[in-house]
Amino acid sequence: MKQSQVTFWCHEIIRSQAPEGGFYIDGTMGKGRDTLFLCELAGEAGRVLAFDIQEEALRYTEKLLRDNGVRDRAELILDGHEHMERYAGEGTADVICFNFGYLPGGDHGIATKPDTSVAAVEKGLSVLKSGGMMSLLIYSGGDTGFAEKEALLSYLRTLPAKKFTVIANEYWNRGNCPPMAVFVFKK
Ligand SMILES: C[S@@+](CC[C@H](N)C(=O)[O-])C[C@H]1O[C@@H](n2cnc3c(N)ncnc32)[C@H](O)[C@@H]1O
Repeated sequence: MKQSQVTFWCHEIIRSQAPEGGFYIDGTMGKGRDTLFLCELAGEAGRVLAFDIQEEALRYTEKLLRDNGVRDRAELILDGHEHMERYAGEGTADVICFNFGYLPGGDHGIATKPDTSVAAVEKGLSVLKSGGMMSLLIYSGGDTGFAEKEALLSYLRTLPAKKFTVIANEYWNRGNCPPMAVFVFKK
């Protein structure tokens, strides 16, 4: 059932906010499912930047975009999302999405980390345009531990309410440290 997956809700919220022909950033490319989603939303006039530190992720994503006929809409960048400001100007992006953690089916030791994730969110918030939104999918427990979730949630709590609306969503009746979705809207 699609509605039981938090990724479904992240995509629905992004879809409700994203202008066609916009500029979208995927901070964690992985197997490319979010990059593909953003390319489809962007349409022919839009543009997508996607980041990952693993060549494997770029290979998966390149193929997925090619197979779906949208390869020309995205620039795939082999670099950490904490360097996002080197590739995108301040106040330019309509949507930035992060799906933290490790590459599904890949090495669980190569995963997003508290310090670089917080730095990437901070940079992303300056790259975001006024009226834009950021979606964060945060995992915890198991190989991931809790440090990244705690660091991200602590940082997000410090954002001034006059400039940002932060909405954190949790599964209320599910065990085993379910993922959490957070949306940040820049005023
Ligand atoms: C859960 S996966 C992303 C899933 C992906 N969005 C998808 O649709 O398949 C997390 C990804 O973040 C990547 N990653 C880890 N550290 C990173 C960093 N500093 N910058 C960018 N990506 C990073 C990992 O290599 C991994 O591929």
